[in-house]
Amino acid sequence: MKTILIYQSKTGCTEDCALFIQSKVDNIDVVNLKKAKIVNIEAYDRVIIGSSIYVGGPLKYIRKYCAGNEQKLLNKDLFLYFLGASKNYEEVEKGLKKTIPQKLIEHAKAISFFGGEIRFDKLNFFERVIMKKIKKENNLSPTINYKAIDEFIKMIEK
Ligand SMILES: Cc1cc2nc3c(=O)[nH]c(=O)nc-3n(C[C@H](O)[C@H](O)[C@H](O)COP(=O)(O)O)c2cc1C
Repeated sequence: MKTILIYQSKTGCTEDCALFIQSKVDNIDVVNLKKAKIVNIEAYDRVIIGSSIYVGGPLKYIRKYCAGNEQKLLNKDLFLYFLGASKNYEEVEKGLKKTIPQKLIEHAKAISFFGGEIRFDKLNFFERVIMKKIKKENNLSPTINYKAIDEFIKMIEK
């Protein structure tokens, strides 16, 4: 079984999760979609797609990739993971349903939410102000949930 993990990350959380998964799964290639020009998934049996959530939906390159490669992805074992600061997974799910093709959501063997982190040092001034406000108002102190990642890896390897 050959696996490819395709991700986009703004402040490094989704990337950290990608590298963690890579350290635990055999025969896996990891691709940063923002840097890669072409991603050819033909040679792979499994595809994992990871993104953080910004303003209610996954990052741009992931949205575009899913929309533009729907048919190819439907022919693979597909696993999706997302990161976000929200405590409310239902809200995250709503955002996914609006931005990822419905057929892919239905086809995915697992869709997991790994929590997240707010890395203020990696945000611009505007984002820092917004996130400070949201963090305070919603009493957020998100962390990356490594237990959820271990569960996700178990589902991949089933
Ligand atoms: C401007 C901004 C908007 C965000 N919007 C959301 C959101 O709608 N829902 C959510 O759960 N998290 C949101 N987050 C939190 C990020 O998804 C979280 O910090 C995540 O861990 C970042 O992962 P990354 O470093 O891989 O990009 C937002 C963060 C910023 C800075």
